[in-house]
Amino acid sequence: MIKSDFPYFANNNTVYLDNAATTQKPKCVIDSQIEYYEKYCANTHRSNFGDANKATQKFEDARKTIKEFINASKIEEIIFTKGVTESINFIASSFAKKFKTIILSSLEHHSNIVPWHMQKRSLGDGLEVVKCNENLDFDFIDFEKILKENPNSFVSISHISNAFGKIHDIKKIIAIAHKYNAVVMIDGAQSLAHMKVDMQDLDVDFFAISAHKTFGPTGVGAIYVKEKYLKDVTAYQTGGATIHEVDFNNSTLLDSPFKFEAGTQNIAGIIGFAEALKFISNIGYKKIESIEIDLYTYLNEELQKLPNIIFYNEIEDSIGSRSFNFKNIVHDDIGILVDKMNIALRVGHHCAQPIMKQLGIKGTIRVSIGFYNNYEDINTLIKALKKAINMLEN
Ligand SMILES: Cc1ncc(COP(=O)(O)O)c(C=O)c1O
Repeated sequence: MIKSDFPYFANNNTVYLDNAATTQKPKCVIDSQIEYYEKYCANTHRSNFGDANKATQKFEDARKTIKEFINASKIEEIIFTKGVTESINFIASSFAKKFKTIILSSLEHHSNIVPWHMQKRSLGDGLEVVKCNENLDFDFIDFEKILKENPNSFVSISHISNAFGKIHDIKKIIAIAHKYNAVVMIDGAQSLAHMKVDMQDLDVDFFAISAHKTFGPTGVGAIYVKEKYLKDVTAYQTGGATIHEVDFNNSTLLDSPFKFEAGTQNIAGIIGFAEALKFISNIGYKKIESIEIDLYTYLNEELQKLPNIIFYNEIEDSIGSRSFNFKNIVHDDIGILVDKMNIALRVGHHCAQPIMKQLGIKGTIRVSIGFYNNYEDINTLIKALKKAINMLEN
C-alpha cells in the first residue's frame, strides 16, 4: 500500500533492500523538485523579482520545516550541507580541530573516521575509540574511563550503525559526555528514516542529517549546531551569499546560517528534503516504527532458518540493517547471485572497515529495510538466498 507513493516501485520490480545506502523517494518529493525547476526556477537570497522571492521563501520554509521536525530551538541552528559527510568534515575542520582528543565508537562509518585522520590524529594520539562487546554493545565503562582521562574532549558518534543496525543510546552518551565537559556531535545519517530525534530532549551539541537516507534527494543534508556554539564555528567555505561587505582588504561575514552556506545551494534538493520530512510526519513515526519492528523481527526469524548463517549481533537495540554471512561462502558471491534474481542488497564492508577488522571478516551481506518493504519482499529474499546458497554449495 505504502509502495504506491513511490514511483520507483511502479517502474521496477527489484526487491529493494538497500535502504541504508539510500532510500527511494516518494512522488511528492520528486514533484516538489520538478515544480521548482518548471515553475519558479531562480536563485535564492540574491535577486528581488517574483520567482526569486518565491524560491527564497520556499528555501527558508524548508529550513523551518527541518528545524521543527528535529525540534531545534532556533532557525539559525540549521545549516544546509551536502549530507552527513560534509556536515562532519565542516564541524571537524571549523570547530573540533582545536580539541586535543576526539572520541569515536567502534562502529563508525568512514565519514566519521577519515576526517579525523586528515587532522593527523591516530589511535592514542588525538583519537580514542570506545570498545564494544561481542554483541556490538557500546561499552559505557570504557567510555567513562576515556572521558575521565581526557576531559574537555569532542565526542563524535553515530546514532545507528549503517553496517549492523545497532542503535547507540545517544541520550545516555550525551549526558555522560557532558558530565566530563565534552562536546558531542551525533552522526544521524541512519536516524530519521527510522525514528524521531529531538534536539532539546537529547541536549545534543551538533547533529548531522542526510536527506537521501530519509526519502529525500541526494546531495543534500544539514548540520544542527546548538546556538551556544554558533559563534565558535568558523566558516570553512566562503563566497557569494556569505558576506555582509567586501573590499579588497577585508570581508565581513553575515550571521548564521548564511555565513556557512557559500555559493548557490541545491535549492530543488532542499525543497525536496522538506517535502520528505512532511511526508514522514503525515505517516507518523508511530506507524513507521511499528511496521519496521514487525518486519525486522520477521526478517531475522526467516534468516535464522537458513543453514550456517552467522550473525554479529542480536536484534535487540537494532533497526534497519541486518548483517550476516554464511559459513564457507564468500559474501560477494551471494551479492552477485541475488542481483541476478532482482534483489538489491549490499555486500562488503559498508564503509565500516575498522569494525569488520575487529570481527576478523572482510565484510557481510547486509539487508537494510525501510518502512515501505513488506513480508513479500522478505519471502522473495529468502527464496533467492536459498537458491544462491544451493548454487554455491554444489
Ligand atoms: C552512518 C553513516 N554516516 C555517514 C554516512 C554518509 O552520509 P552521506 O551520504 O549523507 O554523506 C552514511 C552513509 O552511508 C552513514 O550510513
